[in-house]
Amino acid sequence: MRERRSRMVKPYVRHVLVCTASGAGKEKGTPADPCRGRFCSDKGGEQVRERFWTELGRAGLDTAKVTAVGCLVQHQYGPIVIVYPDGIWYAGVTVDDVAEIVDTHLAGGLPVERLVYHRLSATENAIP
Ligand code: FES
Repeated sequence: MRERRSRMVKPYVRHVLVCTASGAGKEKGTPADPCRGRFCSDKGGEQVRERFWTELGRAGLDTAKVTAVGCLVQHQYGPIVIVYPDGIWYAGVTVDDVAEIVDTHLAGGLPVERLVYHRLSATENAIP
């Protein structure tokens, strides 16, 4: 099989997914919206994503890619940020937390434990 490689995607080692979902289109306060409109965008998700770009520039770190994602169905704990391939989920991330995540995790390789909400585990999440 022929390998395809994009010349447009720069190499990176970590992918940061930031929930910026707004819940638009859902009627707030209904059973479809158990969090009463408190989606990640209502709690600063977009500002968190923008701060990642700023902090990655400050740190001179070009080995992490930041992408906005839709709802991860954990918005009561949002904004949610996930770092792959480490499988670390952060909850309640604010713009003031981003520099620490960049310096400690993305540059240093160690999760910011005080913000960890969930971590993927090969054994815990193994498909039988
Ligand atoms: S809006 Fe972010 S987890 Fe649902």
